[in-house]
Amino acid sequence: MTDQTVRTVTLQQMKREGRKITMLTAYDYPMALLVDRAGIDLILVGDSGGMTVLGYETTIPVTMDEMLMMTRAVTRAVTRSMVIADMPFMSYEAEPADAIRNAGRFIKEGLAHAVKVERGWPSLPCVRAIVDAGIPVMGHVGLTPQTAVLQEGLKVQGKGLDAARRILEDALALEKAGAFAIVLEAIPGALAGVITNRLTVPTIGIGAGPNCDGQVLVLHDLLGLFDRFVPKFTKRYADLAGIISDAVSRYRQDVIERRFPEAAHTYSIDQETERALQEM
Ligand code: KIV
Repeated sequence: MTDQTVRTVTLQQMKREGRKITMLTAYDYPMALLVDRAGIDLILVGDSGGMTVLGYETTIPVTMDEMLMMTRAVTRAVTRSMVIADMPFMSYEAEPADAIRNAGRFIKEGLAHAVKVERGWPSLPCVRAIVDAGIPVMGHVGLTPQTAVLQEGLKVQGKGLDAARRILEDALALEKAGAFAIVLEAIPGALAGVITNRLTVPTIGIGAGPNCDGQVLVLHDLLGLFDRFVPKFTKRYADLAGIISDAVSRYRQDVIERRFPEAAHTYSIDQETERALQEM
């Protein structure tokens, strides 16, 4: 750990000083290496990896073992960023004891620095339990994809006054329960601004406008690597799917048309050995 390493105290300081916090998801070693080197403060091993890299339809089926494998790959790569592991659906809801055990696995086996859980008041007992066990917890309110079925799908939340008040109350309760930061997903920018002003811990927005203390995006959306579901709030900074498809097609053509491999890609032996080999 160095002076540059990001941990929960760094985030509090950044909020106090009005410096924006950057967060991205990552699910494997090579991507985590690049994200960490680019100076992103927080890396979330999101359960979105279940969709973007494991190919599930939703985040619901992702297991603890799958999340742990992705978390270990990411923490092996990272030197500066703080790594947060997303607790998968049903790894924390049933009993606070389950929540502690599973959060503990992310810290001991995955070497993550913190965990994230979705939802407000239903998650409070588990947030308190995990924090009491000595593990930093990030909250997540607004649109919560693990329980999207209760929210009429992947839709903006908190547009009416009552719904907005419930999200604000959830965020305040999570802060009181010990969450060190809270993700605000798919809520109106004005509501995110109010929540950000009321909380002492940082808010990290995704589809929550510019007034949050930080921003997060799903890496594969930003890179143009996942187009099965593209939310309105995503900004695409590259078209890696196009670049990769082009490279793979060119390789295929080169093999078919005998342009690859060339002499430069081939091991040679001395002529005498080669002659003897041909006669063998
Ligand atoms: O799993 C995930 O990628 C997330 C982000 C959208 C915050 O929870």
